[in-house]
Amino acid sequence: MKSIQAATYSVHFEENGYIKLSNLMAKKNYSSVFILVDNNTLECCYPRFMQNFTTNAPIEIIQIEAGEIHKNIETCVGVWNVLTELGADRKSLLITLGGGVITDLGGFVASTFKRGIDFVNIPTTLLSIVDASVGGKTGVDLGVLKNQIGLFANPEIVLVDPEYLHTLSAREIRSGTAEIIKYGLTYDITLFNEIKNNTELNIVDLIHRSIEIKNEVVFEDPKESGLRKILNFGHTIGHAVESYFLESLDKESLTHGEAIAIGMICESYISSKLLGFPTDKLSEIKETIINIYGKVEILPEDFESIIDLLKHDKKNIGGNVNFVLLNTIEDFKLDCKVPMDIIIESLKFYNK
Ligand code: GLY
Repeated sequence: MKSIQAATYSVHFEENGYIKLSNLMAKKNYSSVFILVDNNTLECCYPRFMQNFTTNAPIEIIQIEAGEIHKNIETCVGVWNVLTELGADRKSLLITLGGGVITDLGGFVASTFKRGIDFVNIPTTLLSIVDASVGGKTGVDLGVLKNQIGLFANPEIVLVDPEYLHTLSAREIRSGTAEIIKYGLTYDITLFNEIKNNTELNIVDLIHRSIEIKNEVVFEDPKESGLRKILNFGHTIGHAVESYFLESLDKESLTHGEAIAIGMICESYISSKLLGFPTDKLSEIKETIINIYGKVEILPEDFESIIDLLKHDKKNIGGNVNFVLLNTIEDFKLDCKVPMDIIIESLKFYNK
């Protein structure tokens, strides 16, 4: 599968990825290598990685707990401490082997340790393959507020090995699928149609096209001052719903993709109200998403807390909640202000 060239690094696939990683090791002559894993990827992905990775540099594993609740500054402090205790220096390399928590947090830890050491992303979940590991966003949550602390920093390379996907549950695959649907609705309808029709999905092709799209968008707008905001479609309401379910003791947490799927239904509804997004497309989106993700119960008494969380969205400017909406499929409008009553209507529409 053809490599994809980003601004300062490349995304390499399958065996070629391991070859490129070896080339990088030879070229940079790293003093030591640290592999950041969680308890899942240590068990399920690390053995395959080590079968394919050779280096003369000393290797250490750094393990953190799996899960979004550990994507915080305390975990970073733990990793910085271990790097320090194990003698990491500015010629050390950090390899992130895991999902979005590992790649986001690992990229942040690496790019702040001793003012920045090299890192390589090896995403092992569909979500991190098609989104988190590409585009240079690194960071951690602040309480329940997602990705509030972080910086833009690029890896040396990204290595995509779809074999790791075999270690995932169907729920995790669905989580990543939401980001592919997002690329479909905002940028290339064929992705949405393939998922909607569910005809023998070729996951590797979907991954490649998704990364191509993300790369094109990020290439044009690396710091999210314009076009890159389309990657937030569904995420404004989605992040608030995700945070709300994460902090609610009586609710089971949602995966990122499950929350974004809800967000895409709500934001398509808002698009239909404010921009005349076609209602037949709105029904198609709702039906497709509910078919894949089922229906989550969002009670009227949940609305106020979800709206409160929206006020902390990183895209807000001057106290206004900023949305990316759709005029129609593949045709978006950035920086839309949405009245609160329409946001509540959209949650009710999801529930209907
Ligand atoms: N996940 C959205 C972005 O990378 O911009």
